[in-house]
Amino acid sequence: MAIERTLSIIKPDATARNITGKIIGRLEGAGLRVVAQKRVRWSKERAESFYEVHKDRPFYNDLVQFMTSGPIVVQVLEGEEAVAKNRSVMGATNPEDAAAGTIRADFAENIERNSVHGSDSVENAATEIAFNFEDGEIIG
Ligand code: CMP
Repeated sequence: MAIERTLSIIKPDATARNITGKIIGRLEGAGLRVVAQKRVRWSKERAESFYEVHKDRPFYNDLVQFMTSGPIVVQVLEGEEAVAKNRSVMGATNPEDAAAGTIRADFAENIERNSVHGSDSVENAATEIAFNFEDGEIIG
């Protein structure tokens, strides 16, 4: 198995409810290690750029509005097959479809306010990590 890095975001619905620690506990409990982390608030331009792949989807404007509505925690997670492991711990995008015991099943409010984001491939993880962190901010 390969050691990978993936980008994780704790979204505004979760920072608003003061549950960042609970979410990080789930990730660490699954064997993922936080090797970079910061609490930020994105500008509209930054959110638009991060989610550009979704710009033609009907939910894009609402998603940008939501992701700029409050603070987020961006973090780099490292571990064995970190991309897939993070997605497994997060659960399905829509909390109604998320398996019991996953972060989204337990904490997400709906498909948009779904508490966490995780990179969907090793390639996208590298792009998303570089979007959020300088090399020197990642301390493995
Ligand atoms: P995320 O993993 O951050 O990737 C895109 C986000 O768009 C997704 O989580 C949801 O927060 C949001 N979203 C809102 N509506 C939808 C939808 N119908 N399908 C997929 N993602 C959606």
